[in-house]
Amino acid sequence: MTTAEDFQYDVVVIGGGPGGYATALYGAAAGLNIAVVERDKVGGTCLHRGCIPAKEFLETATVYRTVTGAGEFGIRTTEPAVDFSISQARKNTVVNQLFRGLSGLLKSRDVTILSGTGTLLPGRRVRVVDGDDAGTEVTARHVVLAAGSVPRTLPGLEVDGRFVMTSDEFLDLEQLPASVAVVGGGVIGCEFASLLSDLGTKVTILEALDGLLVGCDQDIVPVVARSFRKRGIDVMTGVHVTGHLPRPDGTGTTIHLADGTVVDAAVVVVAVGRRPRTEGLLGEGTDVQLDEHGFVLANQFQQTHEKHVWAVGDLVANAPQLAHVGFAEGMLVIKGILGETMIPVDYERVPWAIYTHPEVAFAGLTEAQAAARGIDVVIKKDPFGGNSRARIIGDTDGLVKVIAERRPDGTTGPILGVHMVGPWVTELLSAGYLAVNWEATPDEIAHFVQPHPSLSESFGETVQALTGRGLHVG
Ligand code: NAI
Repeated sequence: MTTAEDFQYDVVVIGGGPGGYATALYGAAAGLNIAVVERDKVGGTCLHRGCIPAKEFLETATVYRTVTGAGEFGIRTTEPAVDFSISQARKNTVVNQLFRGLSGLLKSRDVTILSGTGTLLPGRRVRVVDGDDAGTEVTARHVVLAAGSVPRTLPGLEVDGRFVMTSDEFLDLEQLPASVAVVGGGVIGCEFASLLSDLGTKVTILEALDGLLVGCDQDIVPVVARSFRKRGIDVMTGVHVTGHLPRPDGTGTTIHLADGTVVDAAVVVVAVGRRPRTEGLLGEGTDVQLDEHGFVLANQFQQTHEKHVWAVGDLVANAPQLAHVGFAEGMLVIKGILGETMIPVDYERVPWAIYTHPEVAFAGLTEAQAAARGIDVVIKKDPFGGNSRARIIGDTDGLVKVIAERRPDGTTGPILGVHMVGPWVTELLSAGYLAVNWEATPDEIAHFVQPHPSLSESFGETVQALTGRGLHVG
C-alpha cells in the first residue's frame, strides 16, 4: 500500500497559468507541499499573451480617446499621435512587474517550480522534460492538469507571423498595421477591433455567424455594433473565409471569401476560439478522457476519469475559458484534496467582462436563455443617457438590464441575469454578479443605497424599477 510519505509532493500542477497558479497558491496557503510544472513562464496565457497585454492596449486606446476628446472639457491639447513602440514597452513593463510579483509570491509560499513540459503518467507520476534531456519523474498524492489552451487556426489562414497572426503574435508587434482584418467577431475579435480602430488602424471584422458577440444578451450587442459602426469598423457577418494571397509588394494580403468577395488588409488576425493544449499531456496508460476536440472531461468537482487527477482552466471540457473560472476551479480542487465541502463552480452564473469600448459585462441568464427555458420574466433597463455620472464623464452609450423571475402569483422573484454595456461596466458588474449568485430578489437589493452621482446607480435604479416603484426608471 502506498502512503502519503511515498509521494514527493502533495500536489503537482501541470501548467502555471491562472488555473495552475491559483491551485498552487491556494493549496500552499493551506499548508500543502506543491510543485508546478511550467515550460515557459508562470502566469500563462492570461499574463503573457492574453488578458493582461490586451487590456493594457485597450487602456492605451482609452487614453488616446480621452486626449482626443479633451477639448470638449476645455482642455487644449495638441493632436495626439500614437507611438506604439512606447505602448508596447509599457505593456511589457506591466507584464514583467506582475510576473515578478507572481514568481515572488509562489516562492514565498515554498511552491517548487519544475521547469519543463509535464506529462501525466499512470500511478500519480509526472514526467518533466526540459529541452532534449530524458526528463525526470516526480510523484504526487494529487495531480492537477492545467495546461491551458492555444489559439485555434483556420485552414487557408496558416499563421506566418507576417500576414496572418493570432493574438499571440499580434500582442508583441512594435508597430500597428494600417489595416487589419479580424477573423472572428467573438470576445478576442471585438476587443482587438475596438482597440485597433481607436488607435487609427482600419478594421474589418469577418464573422461566420450572423452577429457579433454571440451569446451576449440581445439588448447589449447592438450598442457595441452601433459604436463600432460609428467608429468606422466594417463588420461583415455570415461570411466564410477560404484563404488569402499576399500581395507581391509585401504590403499586405487579399482575403478570399466563399461568395467571391475579397477583403484587403495589411494583417489578418485570426480569433476563432481557443483549443486545449492537451497534446503530449497524457502518457500511455492513464485513465483521463478527452472529448472529441481534445478537452479534458471532468465532473463538476473537477475530477477526471483517473482517481487523484483533477483538471482546471481552459483545457476543461464544457467550461468557459476565463482566467477567473480557472482560479475558482483551482480553489475548488484544493478544497476537494483537503476533504472540505465542495461547491461546484456554477458556469452559468460566472461573471463575464469584455473590455471593448463600450465595455460589456454580465452574469446569469440572457433574455433569450430565460425564454428558451420557458421562464416567465420581468425585465427593466436603464440607459446610461439618464445617469448623471455618465453625463459628467461624457460617456453615455449603453445600458443596464436586469432580468428577474416572475412568480406564478405575479410578484417578482429572484434576479436571474444582469447585463451591462457602457462605461466601466466591467467594474460595475460585481453588485449584479452577487445579486444573481445570491438569488436575491429586487425587493432585497432595492433596499441598499447606491452612491450619487455614480454609474453604479444605474444598477440600483433598474432593480428599484423591478420592485414596481422606480425612481427615475419606469
Ligand atoms: P469566441 O468563441 O469568443 O469567438 C470566436 C468567434 O469566431 C465566434 O463568433 C465564431 O462564430 C467565429 N468563427 C469561428 N470560426 C470562424 C470562421 N471560420 N470564420 C469566421 N468566424 C469564425 O473565441 P475568441 O474570441 O477566440 O476567444 C476565445 C476565448 O477566450 C473566449 O471564449 C473567451 O472565453 C476567452 N477570452 C475572454 C476575454 C474576456 O473575458 N474579456 C478576452 C479574450 C478571450
